Parts: sequence; C-alpha cells; structure tokens
Amino acid sequence: IPVDPFDLVIFGGTGDLARRKILPGLFRRFCAGQMPPEAQIIGAARSELDDEGYRDFVRDAIHEFAGPLSEDDAQIDEFLERVGYVAIDAKGEGGWEELKSRVRDDLVHAFYFSVAPALFGDIAERLHLHGLAGDESRIVVEKPFGKDLDSAKALNATLAKHFHEQQIYRIDHYLGKETVQNLMAVRFGNVLFEPLWNAQYVDHIQITVAETVGVGGRGSYYDASGAMRDMVQNHLMQLLCLIAMEPPAKFDPDAVRDEKLKVIRALEPVEPHHIVRGQYDKSANSQGYRQDVENPRSFTESFLALKLHISNWRWAGTPFYLRTGKKLKARTSEIVVVFKDAPHSIFGADAGRHRNVLAIRLQPNEGMTLDVTIKEPGPGGMRLIDVPLDMTFADALGPEAEQATEAYERLIMDVIRGNQTLFMRGDEVEAAWAWTDPIIAGWTARSDVPKPYDQGGSGPEDSMMLMHRDGRRWRELK
Ligand code: BG6
Repeated sequence: IPVDPFDLVIFGGTGDLARRKILPGLFRRFCAGQMPPEAQIIGAARSELDDEGYRDFVRDAIHEFAGPLSEDDAQIDEFLERVGYVAIDAKGEGGWEELKSRVRDDLVHAFYFSVAPALFGDIAERLHLHGLAGDESRIVVEKPFGKDLDSAKALNATLAKHFHEQQIYRIDHYLGKETVQNLMAVRFGNVLFEPLWNAQYVDHIQITVAETVGVGGRGSYYDASGAMRDMVQNHLMQLLCLIAMEPPAKFDPDAVRDEKLKVIRALEPVEPHHIVRGQYDKSANSQGYRQDVENPRSFTESFLALKLHISNWRWAGTPFYLRTGKKLKARTSEIVVVFKDAPHSIFGADAGRHRNVLAIRLQPNEGMTLDVTIKEPGPGGMRLIDVPLDMTFADALGPEAEQATEAYERLIMDVIRGNQTLFMRGDEVEAAWAWTDPIIAGWTARSDVPKPYDQGGSGPEDSMMLMHRDGRRWRELK
C-alpha cells in the first residue's frame, strides 16, 4: 500500500548508515510501489555537493547495497528523480534557508538525524529557528540514544524543547525485523501459547544475539560502549520486553510501549555473579579485540551473558538468560522458551527427561521450531524422543518471506505513516538506562576485567557455567 506523499530529509545523508541502509532501503520501497510519485528525499550534509553529485552517491549506494534490484537501471533513474541535496552546516546558518524552500509544508515531512548525537540539539534548534519544526514534522533519531541515564535524559530534554513525544521516532532497528514483530503475532494471535506463558509452565527463557563479525572499523565508538551499551541496553532489552510483556489491550503505540515499560521497571538489579563479560582473544590468523580497537589496556566487553529476573506475578522465579557477543562461531539470533517438565512421567525413569522447547529464530533462516515429545517409532517399547515441529518461514510461506522488508525500510515507512508502535518512547529508553547504569558502575568500581574467549567459539567458559550451575544449558550456537 503506497504511503502519503512525503518529504524526507536525511541529515548525515552522505554517511555510512545512509549509504548502507537508509538509501538502498528507500529504493527497495520505491521498487515495491510504496513510494508515491510526489515523494522527495533530500540528503543534507556538510559536503559541498549539488543534486547531481548526490544522485551519483545514491546510485553507487544502491549498486552496492540494494541487492538484486540494483541491476535495474531504469528504476534507479526514476528513483533518483526524487532525490536532491542541500549542503548544510548543522552548527551554523549555511543551507537552512535553502532547505526550508525545498520542504513542502503541506506534506508529511520527516527529518532523519543520522548524525552523531552531539548534533541532535543543534539540528533540532535550527529546524525550529527556520520554521521547519511545525506540529506536523517528525524526527527520526538513531542509537546510541545516550550513554547513560543522565545523557539520555539530557537528549530527551533537548528534543522536547521543539518536538512533542508524538513527533519523535527513536529507532531500534531490531524492532523493524520481521520476526521480532512476529513475536507479538505468535504470542497474541494464538490461543496455544499464552496460557502457558508464565512462571508456572516456563522453566526459563534464553535470548541470544551472536555475531561472527568483530568490531570492524568502529573501534573507538565500540570501545567506549561495549556489548552492554551497544546491544543489551537496546536490542536485547527490546526482545526481552516483547517476550515478557503483558498483552496490550490494542496493537497501538502507547498500549504496546506502556507494557514494555512495565517489564523494564520490574527488572531486579542483577547480582554481579550473574554476569559474565568477555573479550575476544587474538587467534593464529586474526587480531584480538584490543588490537582491533587499538587499546592495549581495554577492559571493554565484546561478549556479555547475564541472568535476569522480572519481579511480577507472571515471571516470579523464572530466570531469563541473555547473551550477545562478537566473533562467535555463528550468526544466530534466537529466543528460546524452555517449558517445564511434565508434572509426572507415566513412562517411568527410563523414558528420560523431555521438555517442550519453543525456539524463535530471528536471523538467519527466520522461523520457529517447537520440540514435541513423541514415541520413538519402532518395536522398542515406550521410548520417547523429541522431534521439532519446524516452521521455516521461507519454506512455509514461499520466496516472498525471504525477501521480507528489511528493518530500516519498514521503520522509515512507519515514520511516514505516523505509526510509533515500533519505536522507543523516551521513558522506555530512560528506564533501560536506569537498569543498565548500576551494572556498569559496579564493573568500574570493582575494576572488572572481561574474560578472554576464543574467536569462533561460544564465548567464555564462565558463560556456560552461568547455566550449568542452575542445571541448564545454552542452546548450541549454529
Ligand atoms: C548494531 C550494533 O546496533 O546492531 C552493532 O551497533 C551490531 O554492533 C548490529 O553488529 C547487529 O545488527 P544486526 O541487524 O546485524 O543483527
């Protein structure tokens, strides 16, 4: 369904995120027929480019990152007719009047702040000064949204000077992933799961976001952040909220976000011995974390595993184990719900221990499996085995599922539609930092040193022990 005609201004329009994600994503939406002919995309950055120069930049970005569609030169040309550029000085006056003359007041217009957070205030202020911050304007802001509670509050306050909360779209791209939204559909669209979705039936829940990549070229950002700020405070926290929240009354932005907020506020402080930090070591043919970030004394974690408790009626006593890390053996993001044993085994001790396990794979090969216990076929008597009911979405739903809209595309279209459901509200971000800050402060106070771990493995041994101590184990990374 096409969205309304719009103007989208991308501050940081020549930056890495614009090149890799935003512009190729917009092009894919254009090819899908979702962008009306009147839509206009304006890159805004410091470089002295003109419209033609920027179109060349966008063309290259599409060729490099838009996948199979990037072959279609006619479509690219048509898309580029909608693209323009204004050279702008975020901290000065240059370019703002020109931008003002290009943005059409009577259309939906959104300003994407794909810039360092230090510039958010300057840009918001100038949008206001030049009459671009009307009640109908929307702004999109990227993570990192602060580095602790104080800085997040300061950012929220800065934006609130010129924009209402309903105009602010804080991106967490995990919320734009197809299967992440599917979590809500699975939980609240089926009668099967929800009655069992509580401490009475669930033994524990695992959330894993494992990556094979290292810190790449982002060493200085990453070394000041670590896995806690880079992944846990936002992406894993959002997954935790969606898996643990109460059913919202409606699929509407505030109803959903109110419930997520309650989860974060119900998190218990984490015991230090329920946290394992790791840092990838050097290997025979690859540098270690400290060389990658060029900081030989870095104590920043590139791996984090932790055990959490949510103190409310639904989850009291059910642990949630979270882990994320770089340079691990597989790129896997999944949520695993391990149900409790049947209360009594009529098959006797020899039948062994069998549990229902629901694994929701976010990436790659999005899908779900549910391990069900059945009789082992054959004449061997009543022996039990677990078999997965396997639903890989691409198999079940055909190739369209494989080409599912990428996170950024979906989120940008939601901005244009004015739907904030998949965006973080200011109080959610603050609550997440309020939970994160004391943990990080504890590490600093104890001069905590992350455990080295082998590249291509499953993280530090201690993260296995975190589970083994409780008689549980992580699902294997594959
Ligand atoms: C980003 C983090 O937000 O998410 C990166 O800053 C991480 O460090 C990335 O690699 C993971 O995203 P995805 O979509 O590849 O799982």
